[in-house]
Amino acid sequence: KALVKSLYRNTEDFIGKEVILSGWLKKIRAQKNFGFIELNDGSFFKGVQVVFDTNLENFEEISKASISSSLIVKGKVVESQGKGQTFEIQATDVEIYQKADLAYPLQNKRHTFEYLREIAHLRPRTNTFNAVFRVRSVLAYAIHKFFQENGFVYVHTPIITGSDCEGAGEMFRVTTLDMNDLPRTDKGEIDTKQDFFGKETNLTVSGQLNVETYCAAFRNVYTFGPTFRAENSNTSRHANEFWMIEPEIAFGDLEANMELGEDMIKFIIKHVMDECPEEIEFFNQFIEKGLIDKLNNVLNNEFGRVTYTEAIEILENCGKKFEFPVKWGIDLQSEHERYLSEEHFKKPVFVTDYPKEIKAFYMKLNEDGKTVRAMDLLAPGIGEIIGGSQREDNLEILEDKIKKEGMDLEDYDFYLDLRKYGSFPHSGYGLGFERMMMYITGMTNIRDVIPFPRTPKNAQY
Ligand code: 4AD
Ligand code: MG
Repeated sequence: KALVKSLYRNTEDFIGKEVILSGWLKKIRAQKNFGFIELNDGSFFKGVQVVFDTNLENFEEISKASISSSLIVKGKVVESQGKGQTFEIQATDVEIYQKADLAYPLQNKRHTFEYLREIAHLRPRTNTFNAVFRVRSVLAYAIHKFFQENGFVYVHTPIITGSDCEGAGEMFRVTTLDMNDLPRTDKGEIDTKQDFFGKETNLTVSGQLNVETYCAAFRNVYTFGPTFRAENSNTSRHANEFWMIEPEIAFGDLEANMELGEDMIKFIIKHVMDECPEEIEFFNQFIEKGLIDKLNNVLNNEFGRVTYTEAIEILENCGKKFEFPVKWGIDLQSEHERYLSEEHFKKPVFVTDYPKEIKAFYMKLNEDGKTVRAMDLLAPGIGEIIGGSQREDNLEILEDKIKKEGMDLEDYDFYLDLRKYGSFPHSGYGLGFERMMMYITGMTNIRDVIPFPRTPKNAQY
């Protein structure tokens, strides 16, 4: 038994050998006495060419096989005369396990990514999506490899939670209450005490608060799991369900945090380039011209670093007219982020020390009293790919922040304990897994790097 990937990679070793392959018919071209099948066996995003002829007793049946039929092929690996391939399989036996229904939608023509999204359960069978989702798997592994090899402990943070990490209220409620007959308090408010967990709960927007607590026990930790945001943002970079990688380091400041982020990104890019060279080459050719040069540039150069205040000066003096006017205090918009990373720095750049008003409550206040120790990593073509910070480790300042945000101190008891029982400087960040996927593959829509994308007004799967 052989796999198509090993045939491609070790062709020499296979020439002249008998192999058994099983998989699905991608293409077929049959003539009177012979024909060609492109067989996809799932081990590689490219199929393999199988040649069959009238020596096979079921030649007629094979000639009529439909696209996506499942086959078991026995044959000999031979050097190919055809262009575009170095080898092919000369079939000695072709068993049709099931003849696919002719309604199979992925017939041999180009389909738009928009159309393929509507058949997300079938699209991984196309070359592009096969390559994308194999890279997704390899990238996830690279992340674990990086952190495990650097002594980080993997923490499974909860999916259902009683706290709002980002304090932005963009959460999906988890409830078992009957919407048609909601229990009410004497005041007429919804009585959340009668809900399943005895209080209001939501799907997590970030595992940070929980992972911080494990940081106080294991020093260097990370979580990597699904997160959910009820943002009604219909953009090509936002999903309502996405995965996030969140490391947290004890006794590490913002500088150490940036170093970690840069090392991690370089490591995972290198790992994917080493493990999936054919897929990356394919993306370079068909998805983003210049992708390989871009990735090599990331590997071989230091990321840019700039404070928010400096970034505002750059934007104010660049002579470009932005739709959203630039002035100190604004939240950077996508057009500003793009200018900074794509036109000014022309590489990934960390922007640090944002005004406290536009950042989450847990970020450490700087001595100026106006900015916090935040860092966003902006990547050309994507925008914000990492958001992180050094954390506020002063109990009073933190309590004050929570109250000012109108949040309930009680919900953050466990979090405040960290500032009572051996408070320590610590930092961490969140890398958006799908944004990283977009960066590494060149795919331009987040829906095309998620197996079953969850976005507004879309719950087909
Ligand atoms: O900047 P964010 O909101 O940071 C946090 O959640 C922190 N608690 C992380 C931490 O410090 N541990 O999100 C982090 C990253 C963003 O930079 C972006 O890459 C991604 O998560 N992200 C999204 N990706 C896809 N769709 C969305 N709706 C996203 N929102 C954030
Ligand atoms: Mg952010």
